[in-house]
Amino acid sequence: MKIIMLGAPGAGKGTQAIKIAEKYGIPHVSTGDIFRANIKGNTPLGMEAKKYMDEGKLVPDELTVRILLDRVSKDDCSKGYVLDGFPRTIVQADVLKEELTKLGDAIDYAINVDVPDENIVKRMSGRRACVNCGATYHIEHIPPKKEGICDNCGSELILRDDDKPETVQKRLDVYHEQTQPLIDYYEKDGVLKTVDGTKPMEEVFKAITDILG
Ligand code: AP5
Ligand code: MG
Repeated sequence: MKIIMLGAPGAGKGTQAIKIAEKYGIPHVSTGDIFRANIKGNTPLGMEAKKYMDEGKLVPDELTVRILLDRVSKDDCSKGYVLDGFPRTIVQADVLKEELTKLGDAIDYAINVDVPDENIVKRMSGRRACVNCGATYHIEHIPPKKEGICDNCGSELILRDDDKPETVQKRLDVYHEQTQPLIDYYEKDGVLKTVDGTKPMEEVFKAITDILG
């Protein structure tokens, strides 16, 4: 099962992707998490990506595509995966399609988690993220059991550098300009499914599992 999560920054792609990965036993592949792990480890890739991420811009396609294709070629991805934050441009979607076509394969579902911009800025300021395992919390809606500590792995939770209100607005602008066209792209491919992402987390997940079966 090969799934793409689409949606604005803060729509809940990561939150739902982790639950999908767990239920269906497939890896959760987040380009944002890969970049953040590299920033934390001070790798050359991390330093390159940080320049763009801190400004709310997209990391260049060439670099992002290379990282993603490398990740999905690993053994654990052979039975499928859930992609979170990739593709984000038509170029990225085209490369992914070409690579899958070569393997006689295709994306099964593109799940669009729909949340209007007004709700997004509010959500972001309350988000806390685990840099170690990528788990995401919200101080009001989805709090961790122990404040500041990840339920999953016990690591410290942080406020992301790109969650400042000015940067969130920039990320939303970039989303509307470069990523939203993918909704039509996957609609045309006949794999688009839209869920209402303003509902509580468990209701959104139920809507997704009703689709995936
Ligand atoms: P990335 O890490 O992908 O960030 P994003 O798309 O901006 O999305 P977020 O992770 O901010 O939001 P999300 O939809 O995962 O929401 P979450 O589940 O956390 O990318 C970061 C940067 O990396 C990009 O800006 C770019 O620079 C670069 N990058 C990454 N991929 C790239 C690519 N392919 N090409 C180029 N550049 C790339 O939820 C948000 C909050 O809401 C949380 O606090 C959560 O607890 C809460 N929440 C979730 N669901 C609900 C609910 N139903 N009700 C209430 N609260 C909820
Ligand atoms: Mg995310």
